[in-house]
Formats: sequence, structure tokens, C-alpha cells
Amino acid sequence: MSEIKKESNIISKISNGMRTYIKDLAGKVGEEVTISGWVDVRRDHGKLIFIDLRDMSGKVQMVALPNHAEAHALANTVRPEWVVEVSGKINARPERMINKDEVNGAVEIEMLSMKVLNEASVPPFDVTSDGKEIGEDTRLKYRYLDLRRPRMQKNIRNRSKVMTLVRNILEKEGFTEIETPSLTIATAEGSRDFIVPSRIDPGNFYALPQSPQQYKQLLMSAGFEKYFQFARCFRDEDSRGDRQPEFTQMDLEMSFATEDDVMAVNEKTIIEVVQKLYPHKKIQQIPFPKIPYKEAMEKYGSDKPDIRTDKNDPNLLAFAWIVDFPMFEKGDDGKWTFTHNPFSGCKPECFDDLMNKTNIEKIMASQYDIALNGYEMGGGSVRNHRPDALKKVLEIMEYSEEKIEREYGHMLKALGSGTPPHGGIAWGLDRMIMILENEPNIREVIAFAKTGEGKDLMMNAPGKVSAEQLRDLRIEIKQKK
Ligand code: AMO
Repeated sequence: MSEIKKESNIISKISNGMRTYIKDLAGKVGEEVTISGWVDVRRDHGKLIFIDLRDMSGKVQMVALPNHAEAHALANTVRPEWVVEVSGKINARPERMINKDEVNGAVEIEMLSMKVLNEASVPPFDVTSDGKEIGEDTRLKYRYLDLRRPRMQKNIRNRSKVMTLVRNILEKEGFTEIETPSLTIATAEGSRDFIVPSRIDPGNFYALPQSPQQYKQLLMSAGFEKYFQFARCFRDEDSRGDRQPEFTQMDLEMSFATEDDVMAVNEKTIIEVVQKLYPHKKIQQIPFPKIPYKEAMEKYGSDKPDIRTDKNDPNLLAFAWIVDFPMFEKGDDGKWTFTHNPFSGCKPECFDDLMNKTNIEKIMASQYDIALNGYEMGGGSVRNHRPDALKKVLEIMEYSEEKIEREYGHMLKALGSGTPPHGGIAWGLDRMIMILENEPNIREVIAFAKTGEGKDLMMNAPGKVSAEQLRDLRIEIKQKK
């Protein structure tokens, strides 16, 4: 083998060093090109050896003929998933061999020389199928191989296209993309935090953000007016089909904005994404219907109703805004708690009740969720921009003065430093792509997803740390009795 490899290095002098992407072959019949990629399938017909070669842009059939002896010998040795560079001539296929369904169905590469760039062990599963027949744990353990399958390549590449388009649209609308910290402090936002011990300040902990909620509001205090970010969020909750412990939000905030302003810019962005990137999909109703929370519950028994007129149509997208949520609900302890997060403001007509702490059950939040085909795709609100209003919310929930100062002191101060009225939203990007790609769960659209138990089977996370690291952090592990 190594002999052949050495030889093949010499043969590769035919290559002009310029790589051609496989998608660009069709228009170059008669030319000699160098292509690189993975061996997808190899079919040995004795004298003729056919190899389908795959790169990031497509697939092409190559043929090794006995008259190019070295290339033919090497073609004999390569196996699926080996990485090779091939120099060859682009030939038109005979009429009866043309495959009209494939991009390169009318051409074929006559292999003149081949260089093996890397061998591959026998893959644990077929990477050319759609993968649905393979156990998910195995797929996640060998994710770098699983991602080679065309379905996963398509999902991840389309995800990138959606992100790029959203960035471009929001940039044109005057938004600034701003990153906010991942190491921050635990905040009450409804889920459990992931915490990170501090080495320099032993006994104290950072928390990973459940969302950039506070930072984005502080960016409004800071005068940016229009912010967005693809934000990584962390929530220590049980995973399920539409939930991961680590996920991505398209997070946005705008100053001097009403509920309608926020909904309008989001609706416009979503429609453009669907029309440009998923033109085969049909949006059931434009403008998106606005359904009051009460009506959604009474009519559909859900605050994320599936209002599709044909649930069997895989290309139907039924977006709906769910509005007019109550601001408070009773918690398990009988006290009032927020329905979404403590920063949502109330409807203007309920402001007096909020400030007087009266008719609490009737106070409506200026909250809007966006439902898509039965999933909660996103949610947001116009916030309490006045510190006295936020304070009333916290008092209604019976937070002590000490807790208010400790957990919300910085927000109250910022709101009292000239913070404009503002509101925003966050979409669950993973959920949106899952639905656009007709996938059954968000793991199929996340490159390196975790299992239902929150494990990364490929990296073996979570994992143990060394005794030294624990000592630095002054952490002692108590063994289970
Ligand atoms: P919320 O908590 O509703 O709002 O989250 C917004 C959207 O994020 C998605 N989402 C998730 N996706 C995957 N895995 C999860 N564990 C997960 N949790 C939530 C959902 C959800 O609609 N800061 C506010 C937004 C705002 O008010 O601007 C927030 O985080 O699609």
C-alpha cells in the first residue's frame, strides 16, 4: 500500500494544483481537473472501477480504466470514506448512461491519477443513508461521521443560510449585533442555572445565562436602541424533542418600540427567510393572526396552538402571535409569580392596577409569543422600563427588600438612569430550523447535540476533573452513600 501511495504522489504531478469543486464540473467537459473529497461508494467491475467522489459541493462518478495503470491500481485499494485527490478528464457520458436526476448525471471523470490524502477506518454505520435506521446514541457518539450524511449536511448548511440572511436583514433595519457574556450571575428566569465555580474567588459561582435578557435591556440603557444576537442559552432542565440544555436564540431588543413594532420587524424577517430560503413552503396566513391567550386556551387547549388547516401538508407553515397573556399566576406556594419573566411590562391600560397592586389577576402583560405548527417558536414583551414599575412586580411576588436589592438592584439602578421604553423578543433558532427542515426534533439541526440526559456522547461530557482542579476550586465531592 505504502508503495502505491508513494507512486501516486509522483503521478499527481499531472494535477495543476488548482482544485475544482465538484459542483462546477458539468460545464467543463473535455477539461482536465483536480478534485478532492471522500470516497462515497466504490463499485468494482473488474476492469472498470467506479468511484463516486463527494465534496462539500456535490458528488460525481469517476471511472478508473486499466490503461491508466497506477490510478487503476490505487482505485482498487481505496474504500468508502477515504480522502483522495484525483486528477482526471471530464467526459460526457454516453446518452444511455445519463442520469437526469443528478447534477453531474451527464458527466464522468476519467481518473488519470489519484493521491490518497488519508485513509479511513470502516465507519460504524452507513453515512450515505438518511440515518433514520441507526440508533441515535451511536449517531451522537460518532457525530463527525453522522454529519457527513446528506440530510445532516443540508440541515446544518441551511441553518447557516438562515442565520446569514437574518443578520443581513437586521443589519439593514439598523440593528447592531452585540455579544453578551456567558459567564454571568444566576438570575431567576424560570429554569435551573448551570453554575461554574470561580477559582480566583473560591466559594463563589458564575452562572451560564438562561438568556441574555438582562444584558439586552442594559444595552437599551446604554443607548444602542436596536440590538440582536445569536445567543447561546443554557438551561438545566430535562431535555426532550424541542429542548436542549444548550440552545440558540435569535435574540433582539428595540428601544422606543411598541408590541406592534417588535412584532412587525420580526414578522417581516421571518417571511423573508421563508420566501427566500424555503420558497416551496407556504405561509398559511399573512399577516400572522393574533390570537389572545384566553381564546387559544379555550379553542385549542394550548398557548402554542397548531392552527394548520392541513396537518398532513409538510410544506405548510402556520405562524400565529399569541397575545394578551395574564401577567401573574399563582405559584405552588400560593404566592403570585410571573407568567413569563419578571421584566415583562403590563398593558398600558393595566398600569394603574400594577402601581396600586390591585386586581392583580386581571393585569395583562405586554407579552407576545409566536407559535408555529404547534410549537412555541419564540416570545417577547415590552418591558417595564420604569424602575418603580419593575419594583411593583417584585413586590407583588412578595420578594424581600434584601432579595430585590441583591438580585435586581443593578437593573433598578439602570432603569433609573435614563432607560428608554423598550421591548424585544427571542426565537428558538433550533426549533425554527427543525420545523423548516421537517425534522422531528432539534437534535437533527444542532451540529453537536446532547442526548436526552444532557450528555455529549462524543466528548464524554459531563466528565470528571482532576483532583488538582477540584483542589484549586476548593470543591470536595461527597460520594453517594
Ligand atoms: P423564552 O424563555 O420564552 O424567552 O425563550 C425564547 C425561545 O427560546 C426557545 N427555547 C428553547 N429552545 C431549545 N431548548 C430549550 N431548552 C429552550 N428553552 C427555550 C423557545 C422559546 O420560545 N429572554 C426571553 C425572550 C424575551 O422576552 O425577549 C426568553 O428567553 O423557542
